[in-house]
Amino acid sequence: MTASHSFRVLLDNSTVLRRVRELAASIGRDFPAESPVGVIVIDGARMFARHLQRHLGKAMEWHEIRASSYGTGTTSSGSVQVGSQGDLCVAGRSVLLVEDIVDTGRTIAALRERFLAQGAKEVRVATLLSKPSRRVVEVELEYVGFEIPDEFVIGFGMDYAGRYRELEEVVVYEESRAAAGEA
Ligand code: IMP
Repeated sequence: MTASHSFRVLLDNSTVLRRVRELAASIGRDFPAESPVGVIVIDGARMFARHLQRHLGKAMEWHEIRASSYGTGTTSSGSVQVGSQGDLCVAGRSVLLVEDIVDTGRTIAALRERFLAQGAKEVRVATLLSKPSRRVVEVELEYVGFEIPDEFVIGFGMDYAGRYRELEEVVVYEESRAAAGEA
């Protein structure tokens, strides 16, 4: 058996950037006075967050947190591992969680629960992508860039086994296994 893969552009760069600008405008309108504290779920959401930050045009406080329900493959492992949150203190504050993609919903549910348990005033979620058909845990998503079908995507910060994050587009990654010598 040999493994091969193919790429298909789902969202080109200008489409993504236009939508990120719109999301930043909505967030800005929803927080006219006090800015929320931004928490970026790394590594995947860094590129999305960088563009959001540019368009938010506010001096917001930003932190990064590592959380993942994925290993190195393309299916969820079921459990969410959350890393250190450093000196981030959310008690009494509004939190804006920035995520690349919501799939089963487990990661965002775990983070929201964690910050509410720490006394956050509210936790809102900005995600570039959402795969509603994959949801296992119901989660409220306040700012969604695009709803996409159940396909594994890479690019614009998202990876497959640590690769392809730097691609400017959102690309569907398809892996197929074919018997060696098959046409
Ligand atoms: P959830 O906890 O199942 O919602 O998984 C969310 C996390 O899974 C995201 O932060 C991504 O790291 C990863 N993920 C889910 N779907 C994809 C995908 O299509 N491409 C790349 N990463 C994905």
